[in-house]
Amino acid sequence: MTEELRLCSSAKMQAIRDLIAKVAALDITVLLQGESGVGKEVVARAIHLASPRVHRQFLKVNCAALPGELLESELFGHEKGAFTDAYRQKPGKFEAVDQGTLLLDEIGEIPLGLQAKLLHVLQDGEFSRVGGEKIIRTDVRLIASTNRDLKAAMQAHQFREDLYYRLNVFEIRIPPLRERREEIPVLVGHFLTKFTFQYARKIEVPADTMRVFLEYDWPGNVRELENAARRIVVLGTALTVHQEIAARLGGGPRPAVTPSAVTATVNPEQMISLKDIARRAARDAERVAINEVLDRVHWNRAKAARLLQIDSKTLQYKIEQCGLGTREEKQGTVAEPAIEEQKKSGRDGRMN
Ligand SMILES: Nc1ncnc2c1ncn2[C@@H]1O[C@H](COP(=O)(O)OP(=O)(O)O)[C@@H](O)[C@H]1O
Ligand SMILES: [Mg+2]
Repeated sequence: MTEELRLCSSAKMQAIRDLIAKVAALDITVLLQGESGVGKEVVARAIHLASPRVHRQFLKVNCAALPGELLESELFGHEKGAFTDAYRQKPGKFEAVDQGTLLLDEIGEIPLGLQAKLLHVLQDGEFSRVGGEKIIRTDVRLIASTNRDLKAAMQAHQFREDLYYRLNVFEIRIPPLRERREEIPVLVGHFLTKFTFQYARKIEVPADTMRVFLEYDWPGNVRELENAARRIVVLGTALTVHQEIAARLGGGPRPAVTPSAVTATVNPEQMISLKDIARRAARDAERVAINEVLDRVHWNRAKAARLLQIDSKTLQYKIEQCGLGTREEKQGTVAEPAIEEQKKSGRDGRMN
């Protein structure tokens, strides 16, 4: 079992751990349902790690991130010349992950046309690349996840019935964080340790902040809690986050990022460059705004980009720059913003 799931001490998550243990060894498709940020990907990885495919790859494709044709090519690959930008042949994820585990995230967003092709590969283990005829065989354990009610989508004829039953061989529903609040303190402790290490800043969460955290409903679930912990460490104080969450609890207006919240990270003993302060303030303000909007739309990036009036590429860049992305995004080439800052200025590391 992964370390992350060991943290989940509630009875509800313990039941899920038992399910994972049962289902991992069997090579069946698993459908993970649950709100955004509850840990569907964490569970998918745990299934892979406990399965006989552990020494093979685990790959994830977000079905909501790409329009239909690009998604088809991402999943199944394409032949050279299959479309305008297809300069060379490219294998898809189904080929790359052969003998491993493939997580299809946000499966509810997969266009109807592609659903037929997906059904085919699930039934027969074969497919052909876009623009090609050669039959390619693949042996993939599929895990699908969604925050949509797939059954309702099926009843509304947005999701093929045959595909639904093919995916739904074994279903795991992961409860929202507000239904397992007892995990909050342990999770906060875990994230604080993680970010303290990552940003080289130590900070504790006072008992009254923890009380507010225990009361709050966390619509963005564990991801929102993780972001709150990150902001506490980055800001060097729990005060701002405490006030924001408390304001949401009280239903009152949310406080904007105040100048004091920003300068709280500046040590008066040190040289202060106004440019640095402005840059950090702008980034903190953006981080707060982006985080809030993302939480509000349950991390639907397309919606968030529209609300923020930026294109989705810019939003993705900002998510990474603000360190709000998922573990997967951070594992890529993106440097952690605080560390990047530290390298540049050579003195941030001492601030708290
Ligand atoms: N039990 C857990 N322990 C530690 N971190 C967790 C746990 N569950 C979720 N997370 C973290 O919360 C974030 C969201 O989890 P994720 O699996 O991506 O959710 P989902 O796929 O349901 O949107 C990730 O950064 C993940 O590492
Ligand atoms: Mg996810």
